[in-house]
Amino acid sequence: MGGPTTGAPRARMIELKTAQELVHMRQAGAVVAKMLQAAAQAVAPGVKTKTLDDVAARVIEQAGAQPAFKGYRGYPATICVSINDEVVHGIPGHRAIREGDVVSIDAGAKVAGYYADAAITVAVGAVPQASQRLINVTKDALAKGIAQALPANRLGDISHIVQGVVEGAGLSIVRDFVGHGIGRALHEDPPIPNFGLPNQGPRLKPGMVLAIEPMVTIGGWEVEVLADGWTAVTKDHSLAAHFEHTVAITEHGPEILTQLESWN
Ligand code: MF3
Ligand code: CO
Repeated sequence: MGGPTTGAPRARMIELKTAQELVHMRQAGAVVAKMLQAAAQAVAPGVKTKTLDDVAARVIEQAGAQPAFKGYRGYPATICVSINDEVVHGIPGHRAIREGDVVSIDAGAKVAGYYADAAITVAVGAVPQASQRLINVTKDALAKGIAQALPANRLGDISHIVQGVVEGAGLSIVRDFVGHGIGRALHEDPPIPNFGLPNQGPRLKPGMVLAIEPMVTIGGWEVEVLADGWTAVTKDHSLAAHFEHTVAITEHGPEILTQLESWN
């Protein structure tokens, strides 16, 4: 870490994107949406998680984009695939997906130097009702969070509503990982916790771009990272789900840059 040798610590800066920067971020967002759509379509019993990575890598290649995750702090793959008690950052490999699994797919892409980042969770075939409910609530929490991404609001309004939806449904919010600003870097200020108080934190302004990403469990919120240095699992091995969108704050309301086609 660099920085000034004297004086107060550098203030956190939330970068405002110009209209031209948003053009590139929209392009990156469209690539990410395609990656998720293609990977989700490939999910089926017997399919190896590495195959989903190959599918996403092909989308990136065909778009002339760059993977956002590969090489990030040494991360070895194009996407993250996290199954059942795996919350985030599962590394694709030879594990085969099974009927009844809850599969979270996280994808990122870079276009013209600008990043987008999104995640979805899908059920494989017939799953227990509790698994489907976990997925539905997590998706709904993200949608309600995005709806608060308005210029008049503060960051805590997003965090608070996400927490309310999740805990109101009797589920738990993971605390060790948070959402983030995004733009010329994959992770920019501000950190976006999925828990917090309304009317707190920085005021939202047009031009801010936020990656909002609730991570939710059926059991406790505590997680641990496996020996591979990446895969985060729930300590109690309860099921987890993860949804994420890259969202631009505009005068007209939130603009989801990673919107999937044929996805409600
Ligand atoms: N969407 C995740 C995040 O924002 C994935 C990035 S971690 C990586 O942290 F290492 F896989 F790149
Ligand atoms: Co993210």
